[in-house]
Parts: sequence; structure tokens; C-alpha cells
Amino acid sequence: MSGMDVEKIMRLIDFKHYVQDKLCSIYNENESEIIFYELIENFLGITKIKYLVDKEHLILDSEILILNQKINQLELNEPLQYVIGNKKLFGINFKLNNSVLIPRPETEELCSWILSHQLNDIKILDIGTGSGLIALVLKKHINNSTVDGWDNSIKALNLAKSNAKKNNINVNFKLNDIFKKDIPKNKYDLIVSNPPYVSYDDYNKIHERVKKYEPNNAIFVNDNDLLIFYKIIIKKASISLKKNGLIFFECNEKNIEDVFNFLKDHKFKNIDIKKDFRNKKRMLKAEK
Ligand SMILES: C[S@@+](CC[C@H](N)C(=O)[O-])C[C@H]1O[C@@H](n2cnc3c(N)ncnc32)[C@H](O)[C@@H]1O
Repeated sequence: MSGMDVEKIMRLIDFKHYVQDKLCSIYNENESEIIFYELIENFLGITKIKYLVDKEHLILDSEILILNQKINQLELNEPLQYVIGNKKLFGINFKLNNSVLIPRPETEELCSWILSHQLNDIKILDIGTGSGLIALVLKKHINNSTVDGWDNSIKALNLAKSNAKKNNINVNFKLNDIFKKDIPKNKYDLIVSNPPYVSYDDYNKIHERVKKYEPNNAIFVNDNDLLIFYKIIIKKASISLKKNGLIFFECNEKNIEDVFNFLKDHKFKNIDIKKDFRNKKRMLKAEK
């Protein structure tokens, strides 16, 4: 099919080849197959299983038109999650666009780890909330919790607010810069953050797709002090977090031990490092 125009009516199986041909220069075969399944599920309502039992199913001109727009975006290297525009996690439908970081599996793991503590009746602060991922998951799954989500990006907060509204979850999202705003004293039982932690030194190793489309201020941190977010949060939490309150971080495996030591220096106890599914040290918990 390569180089040909898409026909007015097409069998799904031919459309699969068409998609994979179109994307072969930027995605490997496995990836483009996954993309095909995501496209037909999200824009045609056809699941992978439905496809496998009826590969001859005909798609219409109007459907091809929509799918072709999406393929054009993918060819420009736009991340699949932005092209799809939403992602369901922990029973919550997250709308996504390029004003927020795409939720990463490590962050889902961080949420699961927090939820495994069976907490109830607590006040939570999520610093650098982005799409609202952590804040909304915790609010939905922790009984009687009150959750505040802070970010210094208006665009990110607008999306987080619309995610809260769409899913009928009540989180207080606020425009706050953690370097300027103090954390209210003795208000929170749990503070969580997945702050920017990638060095500009590593910029060249990051995929073009990420650099071009995801908000750089959500990812990169000045090389002068890679721990700047952890330090300010730990300093402020050491004063403000309730006694025995918990702090959770997602970290860069390269300097998670430094964050550990910084917590220790600030008299946090029961500090625990957790590995992610790739067996990398990526999450940290401590108690005040
Ligand atoms: C790595 S993203 C995490 C997003 C989301 N919590 C997640 O886990 O998917 C970091 C977030 O921190 C926000 N941020 C960057 N600088 C900040 C600052 N000075 N104060 C508050 N938030 C900040 C960014 O806008 C971004 O949404």
C-alpha cells in the first residue's frame, strides 16, 4: 500500500498494513502494530479481539479520513498518547495534551505503592501535579482523603481541573510555584511529588518525540543542581508535614541515594527505596 492513496472503503487488514507502512521509518513493527490497535479501538470502537475475528471488516471513507489525520500527526512524531488524547488509569479517564507530561509507568507504580499503605482520612499534597494523575488517583482510591494539587503551569492546571471535573473527583488544584509558596504547617499527612529530574546533560539521550512535544519544564532541571526540587520540598516538608506524616517521591535512579541522604539529614525516618518494574531504584518513601 505504500505510496498509494487510501481507498474510499478499506478492509481493516489492509488498513493495518497501510498504517505499519506509513510509520515504519519511526516505529518498529511491534510498536506500529500496537499503534494500529490503539487507533482502531479509540477512533472506531473496534477492539483487538474484534479485529482478530473480523479482519475483513470494511471501514468507511469518513472513518479513513479521521484515521488519516491521526496518522499524519504520528508521522510528525507526535506521541501516540497526545494523538489519542486520553488514557484510562486506575479507573480514571485522563485527557492528555502537550501541556502535561504523559503519565509514565513508574508514576503508576508510585501511585500503587502509596495505595498499598491502606491509608484513610488523610490530607494530601501533590507537588507538580501536571495532568493531575497522582492527585486524582489518590483522591479516588483513598477513603475520606482531601487532596491539593500544585503546579506552576496554568495550562497543566487547566487540564488537571478538567480531568477532575470529567471524572467527578474533587481535588483542589492551585497555581503555586514550590520555590515561592510555603507549605501550610501541620496541614498535610502525606506529600508526594514527581518533580522534574532529568538533567540537560542527558538532553541528547532523550527521544526527539519527548523533547519536541512534552513540556520541557516538566522534565528537565538545571544541571547546576539536579536535586533542587527534592531539596526545596524536603526542606519545606521537614517544617510543615504533620508528625509521622509521609513523603513519597519518584526519582532519577542516578541520584536517588542523594535524595535518601538529604531526607536523613533532615531527620526523616524509615526511609525506604523501591525499585520499579525494570528493577531500577526509582521511588522513595520517608516518615517525619
Ligand atoms: C515530571 S512532571 C510530573 C507530572 C505529574 N505529577 C505526573 O507524575 O505525571 C513535573 C511537574 O512539575 C511542574 N513544575 C515544574 N516546576 C514547578 C514549580 N516550580 N512549582 C510547581 N510545579 C512545578 C511541571 O509543570 C510538571 O507538571
